[in-house]
Amino acid sequence: MKGHFGKYGGRYVPEMLIPALEELEKVYISAKKDKQFNSDFIDLLQNFAGRPTPLVFAKNLTEKLAGAKIYLKNEGLNHTGAHKITHCIGQGLIAKRMGKTRLIAETGAGQHGVATASVAAKLGFSCTVYMGEVDIKRQRPNVFLMEQLGAKVIPVVFGSRTLKDAVNAAIKDWIENVKDTHYVLGSVVGPHPFPTMNRDFQTVVGKEIRKQISKAENKLPDVVIACVGGGSNAMGAFTEFIKESSVHLVGVEAGGRGKKIGEHATRFPNGSVGIIEGYKSYFLQNNDGQLQKTHSISAGLDYPGIGPELSHLHDTKRVEFVSVTDEEALKAVQILAQLEGIIPALESAHAVSYSIKTAPKLAKNKVIVVNLSGRGDKDIFILTKAFRDKKFYEFMENIVKEGL
Ligand SMILES: Cc1ncc(COP(=O)(O)O)c(C=O)c1O
Repeated sequence: MKGHFGKYGGRYVPEMLIPALEELEKVYISAKKDKQFNSDFIDLLQNFAGRPTPLVFAKNLTEKLAGAKIYLKNEGLNHTGAHKITHCIGQGLIAKRMGKTRLIAETGAGQHGVATASVAAKLGFSCTVYMGEVDIKRQRPNVFLMEQLGAKVIPVVFGSRTLKDAVNAAIKDWIENVKDTHYVLGSVVGPHPFPTMNRDFQTVVGKEIRKQISKAENKLPDVVIACVGGGSNAMGAFTEFIKESSVHLVGVEAGGRGKKIGEHATRFPNGSVGIIEGYKSYFLQNNDGQLQKTHSISAGLDYPGIGPELSHLHDTKRVEFVSVTDEEALKAVQILAQLEGIIPALESAHAVSYSIKTAPKLAKNKVIVVNLSGRGDKDIFILTKAFRDKKFYEFMENIVKEGL
């Protein structure tokens, strides 16, 4: 069935959004075959976002673990710091073809908002970003960046005032302004065609990995590891290898700080199948189908749903799902920083941590590729708190004392 992955996916939205999703699907299908669209996309990926990103051999980490070779696909070197810019560029170009003049987005940690605002500025759209009031308080630096990029950040003051409420506010805006507005969805989630379209944009990651690892090792990777929030960086890295049965694919979820509801974001094995936010998938939900509270030290991994294609890949056992705790992710940040000179985003540190557990169990001729979805600059406030860096707090106090 169109827009389905096994029994997952689909398009479960209010009737007034169906024409917008049908138009989006139609324009996307024709753009995919269009030379001009593809050359504009590649041009922006290369000259605005900075692709291709390097595949770095983690020599020191590999030697220390004395097992499989670890390579890092450094998506953190993308403009704005993560893989997210790729599907924002793709959607920006699609919005242009649809004649839209305004982009809207929802954001939790602010990363997707910053990427959308950057693309809006570059391609000449006005931009509105919805963000829960609680998240605005937690992620002020990204609000500042979005505003500098010319976006209007609207605080969402209903519900739990976090990401899921921002999604509802963005959908309401889209329904009211669908004529001139495109809703830039930030992962491989939501109603069809978003999961397919965003996956297709992100497949550039896996294609680059294939080329780069073939050059470096003259073979395919044995294992590809990626963290999974909604699933866009994982689908980007995995899709190229799904048909290669020798490549083991591992998705790493946020184990958070405990196994109780609200303390983690592991949809497997704790989620159940439902239809929420326009698509069918696994969700962390209560018996009434309401999304449950989640926790992760990484803002990008605490989403209670997961992309429908990943649910299918879970059920068909093509992707193995594991989890890594907050504490393990923090440790992985330090290990990678000190051994490899790379500070990963906390999301990506989950994948790094799992590679550190796996490599020593594998033979030295095996090759692991970790998709390092982003860089850690954005996490500076979380990291300084977690590592109890008193000097950093003194520094911030001094700034406050000095006043504006
Ligand atoms: C650096 C980074 N990695 C991963 C994610 C998780 O999203 P996804 O699973 O769609 O890649 C995010 C989300 O904000 C992110 O910023």
